[in-house]
Amino acid sequence: MAPFDLAKCARPNILKLQPYRCARDDYKDDGTNVLLDANENAYGPGLALNPEGALQESTVTGSSTGSSKPEIDFLGLNRYPDPHQVELKKLFCQLRNTHTHTQKDLGPENLFVGVGSDEAIDALLRCFCVPGKDKILTCPPTYGMYGVSAQVNDIEIVKVPLDVDNGFQLQPEKINEALAADSSIKMAYICSPGNPTANLIKKSDIQKVLEHPTWNGVVVVDEAYIDFAPEGSSLAEWVTEWPNLVVMQTLSKAFGLAGIRLGVAFTSPPIATLLNSLKAPYNISSPTSAIATAALSPTNMTVMKKYREQIIVQRDRLVQELPKIPGVGRFLGGQEANFLLVEMLDKPASEGGKPSNKTALAAYEAMAEKRGVVVRFRGKELGCEGCLRITVGTEQEVTKFLQELRVVLDGILKGADIQSLRE
Ligand SMILES: Cc1ncc(COP(=O)(O)O)c(C=O)c1O
Repeated sequence: MAPFDLAKCARPNILKLQPYRCARDDYKDDGTNVLLDANENAYGPGLALNPEGALQESTVTGSSTGSSKPEIDFLGLNRYPDPHQVELKKLFCQLRNTHTHTQKDLGPENLFVGVGSDEAIDALLRCFCVPGKDKILTCPPTYGMYGVSAQVNDIEIVKVPLDVDNGFQLQPEKINEALAADSSIKMAYICSPGNPTANLIKKSDIQKVLEHPTWNGVVVVDEAYIDFAPEGSSLAEWVTEWPNLVVMQTLSKAFGLAGIRLGVAFTSPPIATLLNSLKAPYNISSPTSAIATAALSPTNMTVMKKYREQIIVQRDRLVQELPKIPGVGRFLGGQEANFLLVEMLDKPASEGGKPSNKTALAAYEAMAEKRGVVVRFRGKELGCEGCLRITVGTEQEVTKFLQELRVVLDGILKGADIQSLRE
């Protein structure tokens, strides 16, 4: 077991933090009290509501649900939301207590819920890293927000690349060397499935980092795309076995709820306590909490699973069809997310084409500017020369994407200038 000592790893000011308390932490709101404790507006939300508590139709552009009972309690919006979200946390535990990686059970004390997993990424930095002094380790190519959040917090980044010649797997031995050499590295961020690499990281490689003999730090596994990977892939419940493991997830991807901003971090109770102490007390809005709770019900999970199936069918279709387009090269990384990383070449593969950023950038711009299809150019990322990252869309969107890419690449490989591709 790694020599993890939270008292020496977390920032001293955070360890000493007395979290904000509200009067309702002491006197639960059972619906019968007169609530004059939080400077809310007792008359109600400043919204034109009909007697059922729904927004009046005329006030919502494009809404056709004005008279139906809303899922969201509009009438209750004048009150602050629940700062603890225990019921929502219990639902996440039910979802992830699969007993695949441990027989132990997650409980609400293992959880932090935030405004997307982006809040968890930032909260962890503020919990463990002293600005201007401490560092984090990342494994490029990887998700850009680790770097942005680190920079905002004045935290340096030590980079140990994924093995670009070997399917973008982790290099645990190199990571462990870097961690042994620098005790100011407080966290290692590992993305699994990776973005932009779409591959799961081996559990045994993560375990090698967790078993580091001397490093006193935290391993953060970002599982934003985990529900596109095979069943049982999530390591969320494994946090019950490791005091220094954090697993982040989000409702933004497979659950299709990027608009509500709900992310979650599973971890040991002492780390969860610190994260919950440092967060803004009312970070999860009542509508977000209501929709997230609904999303985890069996009926709504059935819809999520149906859409996920459809995405996987379209992902398989892209895997079949893309290589048939002249100028498309190999898929890099894996196929365990809702996107694919694919090379654009300077010549058709049959003529010995090589990955080309020039082709990829021209295709990216022509697709977006004249063909109405926006993908992501990733050719500047480590080991991603010539790559576009394609999110899997609906059947019609994939059809359009394939058609337009064929036209655009044909033009580029024939040497047409980008202006003519835009016509
Ligand atoms: C790897 C990864 N982690 C986290 C996020 C952020 O998710 P959220 O919407 O929950 O903030 C993203 C979003 O693209 C992502 O790709």
